[in-house]
Amino acid sequence: MDTTAPAILVRDLHKAYGAVQAVGGIDFEVARGEVFGLLGPNGAGKTTTVEILEGYRERTSGIVSVLGHDPGARPRALRERLGIVLQSSGTYRHVTPRELVTHWAGLYPSPRDVDEVLELAGLGECEAVLVRRLSGGQARRLDFALALVGDPELIFLDEPTTGFDPAARRAAWETVRALADLGKTVLLTTHYLDEAQALCDRVAIVKHGRILAVGAPAELGVGESSRYRVSWRDEDGALVARETDDPTALLHQLTSAALARGQALCDLSVTRPSLEDVYLELTAERREVQDAR
Ligand SMILES: Nc1ncnc2c1ncn2[C@@H]1O[C@H](COP(=O)(O)OP(=O)(O)O)[C@@H](O)[C@H]1O
Ligand SMILES: [Mg+2]
Repeated sequence: MDTTAPAILVRDLHKAYGAVQAVGGIDFEVARGEVFGLLGPNGAGKTTTVEILEGYRERTSGIVSVLGHDPGARPRALRERLGIVLQSSGTYRHVTPRELVTHWAGLYPSPRDVDEVLELAGLGECEAVLVRRLSGGQARRLDFALALVGDPELIFLDEPTTGFDPAARRAAWETVRALADLGKTVLLTTHYLDEAQALCDRVAIVKHGRILAVGAPAELGVGESSRYRVSWRDEDGALVARETDDPTALLHQLTSAALARGQALCDLSVTRPSLEDVYLELTAERREVQDAR
């Protein structure tokens, strides 16, 4: 097995549902051991992309390679190496998490230890409760457990925490971090910026079936635009902000003018745009383009 090849490779992927172009030509790669996020609003094409990679949906065109296989051919050898958490899942409801995880373990050639999986997924306290009585957060943890039990190399998590309360989100984040620590490759989708920032080594921002930016969360803030934001309070105490590529010159101009007036610049700060700024800016540009049509 070639361990230097990327875990996932996507080239010029297109998917149309009739007249709806859900994915309009995207390219990305996910390295082995990487946690990669597809970040975008509802309808961006995240689930479509992930389910093509999982082999659940057929692509219209493009090249897709997952652990060296074409998932469209649904090779059995690939199935055993993937862990999948769908955006919404249904499962047997009249059994306990322990029974279900044990049953699933039997479907894989070299499953992980069931106790360890229950622990890793945070199901310890509810392992003997009937599935139909689990809370939303607990049911999601069961999804995680089922995705993990086959000891997959690559795990797909489609909106793993949507609808969670803050405590359940944190618990799910811990599970994803544990997967990363085990050296697993993770592809997750989310529409939460903080989640992408907290978990992902790299993020692709998707909108209308296209990738608008890709990179490490911290670099996306600075990579796409080299701008700085300089802000301060004016004489009336109102916060003023200006964006510039050259904060040195702007600061010189501002501070010398203030000194000449014999005033101080209150709350003066220089910041880089955050991932959130970049995300909002990119998606806002798209909205203007749409509105202009
Ligand atoms: N099975 C389907 N049939 C028709 N249109 C679909 C289908 N699945 C998704 N779409 C459309 O494709 C676009 C992308 O959807 P989806 O991949 O679910 O996005 P996301 O997961 O980012 O919310 C949306 O416009 C959605 O309505
Ligand atoms: Mg989705």
